Amino acid sequence: MLLTEDAPARTQRIDPAFRRDILEGLAQEPKATPPIWFYDRRGSELFEQITDLPEYYPTRTETALLKAHGPDVARAAGAGRAVVEFGAGSSRKTPHLLRAIEPAAYVPIDISGDFLHDSSAELARAFPHLPVLPVVGDFNQPLDLPEEISGMPRLGFFPGSTIGNMDPGAAVDLLRAMRRLLGDDAMLLIGMDRIKDRDRLIAAYDDAQGVTAAFNLNLIERINRELEGDMPVDGFAHRAVWNDQKARIEMHLEALRALDFQVAGARFHMERGETIHTESSHKYGTRDERILLRAGGWDPVEEWTDAEGLFGLVLAQAA
Ligand code: AVI
Repeated sequence: MLLTEDAPARTQRIDPAFRRDILEGLAQEPKATPPIWFYDRRGSELFEQITDLPEYYPTRTETALLKAHGPDVARAAGAGRAVVEFGAGSSRKTPHLLRAIEPAAYVPIDISGDFLHDSSAELARAFPHLPVLPVVGDFNQPLDLPEEISGMPRLGFFPGSTIGNMDPGAAVDLLRAMRRLLGDDAMLLIGMDRIKDRDRLIAAYDDAQGVTAAFNLNLIERINRELEGDMPVDGFAHRAVWNDQKARIEMHLEALRALDFQVAGARFHMERGETIHTESSHKYGTRDERILLRAGGWDPVEEWTDAEGLFGLVLAQAA
């Protein structure tokens, strides 16, 4: 691999964090890029399609759990909390929670301002008496909650098993940061995807219609478009692999032949069969998820799962 650092002037208006993460990720051995960069407009659309796929059980299973157990959450958490949702995105699951628990306010936090304002406006229409107070920001960085909810007990909401996209160390750091942000009397409702049959997991991340493959390959299109890249899209294939040692599904982009390409003025070479590791999705057993939450400063109080035990919805309180 050869990396030249002389980025031409024409690449200067690109997102510096995207440029840094991709150049560093392609320079390391083995190559790996952070999954946050999947979500440009096309990537977000493809992710929405993934959530409707027959093989992708997490979204529909978690939604059914929220519908069925909203009243149980309400009983355990009590009314009058400010619900703080981390990574609100399109917020399709949120109405089920809000309808069940009589919240005092709703604070969605998301890095994408456009997406957040659209979904907040929709929620405000559906819940006209609920103060909806969006915060544009990266919840992995320190941020402030709106003045309006100071003094209110909070319920953090982190659905979708997004915690699984972090390595366990980073997941614990994030849980601790949530604990600090939400306060001593806070609770947290979090979705965790369970360890299960390997074939079922692989099918969920390598679906028959090829939507997940398109989602993974879209990263190459984004790099080419936004970072003046010339990566050959037809030179890569989507791969989903179960790493049993680390209890995670890994998504990779595998070089189908020896490849030479440039990104933002830097040159790279990949051997045939070499991969770029683009995402990890960690899966947790019932005990594992409790250990993770405790390490992050949260005591699990109740948990709900579906009949097949595919997915867990855990309610925890600040330790
Ligand atoms: C957003 N996240 C929880 C998804 C997951 O299942 O890890 C992202 C995803 N990647 C491929 N399919 C879905």
